[in-house]
Amino acid sequence: MAWLRLQAVAAVLALLAAAGVTHSFEFHEATVDAIQLGFRNGSLTSAALVRFYLDQIRRMNPLLHAVIEVNPDALRQAARADAERRRGMATGALHGVPVLLKDNIATCDALNTTAGSLALLGSVVKRDAGVAARLRRAGAVVLGKASLSEWANFRNVHNGWSARGGQTRNPYVLSSDPCGSSSGSGVAAAANMAAVTLGTETDGSILCPSSFNSVVGIKPTVGLTSRAGVVPITPRQDSVGPMCRTVSDAVHVLDAIVGYDKLDAAATRTASKYIPRGGYLQFLKKDGLKGKRIGVPNEFFQGVGEKQMRVYKQHLATIRKHGAVVIENLDIATGRQDIVSNEWTAMLTEFKLSINEYLADLSYSPVHSLAGIIAFNKAHPIEERLKDFGQQNLILAQNTNGIGHVERAWIRLLKKLSANGLEKMMKEQQLDAIVAPEHYASNHLAIGGHPGIVVPAGYNEKGVPFGICFGGLQGYEPRLIEMAYAFEQATEVRRPPMFKP
Ligand SMILES: *[C@@H]1O[C@H](CO)[C@@H](O)[C@H](O)[C@H]1NC(C)=O
Ligand SMILES: *[C@@H]1O[C@H](CO)[C@@H](O)[C@H](O)[C@H]1NC(C)=O
Repeated sequence: MAWLRLQAVAAVLALLAAAGVTHSFEFHEATVDAIQLGFRNGSLTSAALVRFYLDQIRRMNPLLHAVIEVNPDALRQAARADAERRRGMATGALHGVPVLLKDNIATCDALNTTAGSLALLGSVVKRDAGVAARLRRAGAVVLGKASLSEWANFRNVHNGWSARGGQTRNPYVLSSDPCGSSSGSGVAAAANMAAVTLGTETDGSILCPSSFNSVVGIKPTVGLTSRAGVVPITPRQDSVGPMCRTVSDAVHVLDAIVGYDKLDAAATRTASKYIPRGGYLQFLKKDGLKGKRIGVPNEFFQGVGEKQMRVYKQHLATIRKHGAVVIENLDIATGRQDIVSNEWTAMLTEFKLSINEYLADLSYSPVHSLAGIIAFNKAHPIEERLKDFGQQNLILAQNTNGIGHVERAWIRLLKKLSANGLEKMMKEQQLDAIVAPEHYASNHLAIGGHPGIVVPAGYNEKGVPFGICFGGLQGYEPRLIEMAYAFEQATEVRRPPMFKP
C-alpha cells in the first residue's frame, strides 16, 4: 500500500518534470486571474508580487516617470493579505493584488494626494476616497500614486507632465506623447509597474492615455463610481475607472469600485440602478459581439491616417465576422466642436466651485482655495514651469462667479447637445454601441455622462499604440464589456512595450 502510494508520487513528480513545470510564477503581464491562481496553488504570495512591482518601479521609473510615490506600507499590507489567505479569510479577486492610484485619488495613509501639484504637497485628507476605501475592503494592496497631467486643460498640460512627477513617457516609443491626464496610470499598467491601476476622466483622460499606451481603459457612467475624495474638475462629468492590461482585469477592478457612497450620494444613488446583480464578470463572453448593433459615425474617423484606417477597417470586418451588425456612415447631429467650446465655459465655473469644496474638506492644507493655488504657482514659477504651461485658464476659472442664470443655460445646452446628438442617433439606429478611434468619442460621452471602453487596436509605423473605443449610453457597461472582451479575444493586439527611442 505504502509502496503503491510512493510509486504514485514518483509518477506525478516525473510527469511534472517532463512537462517542465518549474512551479515559478510568471510576473510579467500577470493577469488578476493568474495572480489568484498563483495564490491558490502556492507559487505566489502577495509580498512577492509587491516586491516585483517595486523593483519594476525602481528600474523603470527614472525613465518613464509614471509613479509619483510608492507606499511605504505596501509590503506590510501584502504580508497581511498573505496571512489572511493562510487563515482562509481571503475573498474576492483583488485580495492581495497591488493597485496603483492616480495621484488625484485621496488615500488617508502615508501617501500624499496632490494631483501632481506642489501646491497640494503636505495637504492631509480626512479619509480615503470612496473608491480607495472600496479597494481596501476588497483586500487590495495600495502600491502608490501615479503621475498625471497637472491640472490638465487648466494649465494646458496634455502630455503627462506634473511638477511632482516630471514628464511621463510612453513605454512603446519614448519620444511620443503618453497622453493625459491619467498618463502615469496608463504607462504603469503598460510597463508592468503595477498589477492594475485607476485613472479618472472628465473628457478623455482615461480613454486617451489607454489608447496611447496600449491598455484597456473603462470610463464608467458618471456616478457608477464615487468621486468623493477625488481632486475634481466637475461632478457633471468626472468619473473614476480602471486602466489595465486586459479587459478581464479592468472588469475585476470595476466590480470592486462601483456602488453607492453617501459622500457622493446623489450621483452614486442614481447610477447604482445600473449595477447588474452578480456584477460585471458575467459579461466576459467570447461571443459577446454576436447580435450587437454597432454604429460607425463618420465624424470620428476623419483625419485618421491611412495605415491606421486600414487597421480599423480590418477590425470592423472582424467585428462583423463575430456576428455584429455594423452600420457605417452615420452622422451625429451635434459636432465635436459645438461641444468643446460650450463644455469648457461650463467647466471653468464648475472647477472653481468643486476644487474650493475639495480644499475646504481637507484637515490640513498649505492652500485653501483656487486663488491659493494660483498664488502658489506664481511664487514657484520654475518648479511649476509657468513659462511652458501658464495658468491663464486657472485664472479664467478663478474669475467665474458660481452657477447663475447664464451658467445654467450652458449646462442645459450641453444636455441638449447630447440629447440631440449621440443619444438621438443611438436610439434611432437602435445601437448597442458606437465605435471610434482612440478617444475621439470622448466629448460626446463626457457631456452625457456616458461610458466608454478603449481596447488596444494596433501600432503605427513608428510603433506608437492606438486603441479602439466602444461607447454607449448611461448604464451600457454590460454590453460594452461583452463587445470589448469579444473584440480583445478575437484580435489579441496588445503586446508588451518595446521602449523604442
Ligand atoms: C500556479 O499557477 C500559475 C498561474 O497563475 C502558474 O504559472 C504556475 O506554474 C502554477 N504552479 C503550480 C505549482 O501549479
Ligand atoms: C509625502 O510628502 C512628504 C513631503 O511633504 C514627504 O516627506 C513624504 O515622503 C511623502 N510621502 C511619500 C509616501 O512619499
